[in-house]
Amino acid sequence: MIIIKSEREIDIMRKAGEITAIVLEKLEDMISPGIMTLELDRIAEETIKKHGGIPSFKGYKSVTGAPDYPASICTSVNDEVVHGIPGLRVLKDGDIISIDVGVYYNGYHADAARTFPVGSISGNAARLINVTRESFYKGIEFAVEGYRVSDISAAIQQCVESHGYSVIRDYVGHGIGKDMHEAPQVPNYRTKVRGPRLERGMTLAVEPMVNEGSYHVKVLDNKWTVVTKDGKLSAHYENTILVTENKPLILTALG
Ligand code: MF3
Ligand code: CO
Repeated sequence: MIIIKSEREIDIMRKAGEITAIVLEKLEDMISPGIMTLELDRIAEETIKKHGGIPSFKGYKSVTGAPDYPASICTSVNDEVVHGIPGLRVLKDGDIISIDVGVYYNGYHADAARTFPVGSISGNAARLINVTRESFYKGIEFAVEGYRVSDISAAIQQCVESHGYSVIRDYVGHGIGKDMHEAPQVPNYRTKVRGPRLERGMTLAVEPMVNEGSYHVKVLDNKWTVVTKDGKLSAHYENTILVTENKPLILTALG
């Protein structure tokens, strides 16, 4: 069942989304060669708490037998697709880093991710980041009452593949609200089933995960970190959005 949010719930989710955006902005400013991913996590957690939120990810219980998620953000570098765990890794010039942040505020979650360059990056890496962002915007052109989830999925896939990249199959976007993961699933690729019809008041985390090479991935021994099988780069772009009768509203934006 897809939960339709009331005006009151949407107002709270806007605030959760605003905190998420503040964290991403702050981390973007900090990212440069020499910084450790654990330092990014510390600042993220401090910033979330300072604004009255709670990190959604910290302590998250996996359904796949992994230990509870140990950090407030995910930091996925280069060939890491998602769920990279902050630690002692030091970023170096030319890396790309995907940062995923979830904020729980007043009973509701917001979830957003960006891939940032570290210092000066290759043209290939920059193109991958740009296409991933662009595919999100192509997708949400269909996040409008009356279309279907599958219209969002198809538009994302079309954009990504037209640039010679591939979309991850093993992880998908999702509804979001009182729970970080609610119905419906929002794949970034066409599926056999026509997805549910969209209605105003639905809140979705739309999150293309895009690989430079093939879409095949594997999970590292820490049971969290997802990496590309071919070792090529991967990028991520996610916002929590509200479906309306015309243009979707991006909730994980600065108020
Ligand atoms: N944004 C991701 C998701 O939608 C991140 C989850 S990390 C976790 O699943 F630790 F919370 F699982
Ligand atoms: Co998400």
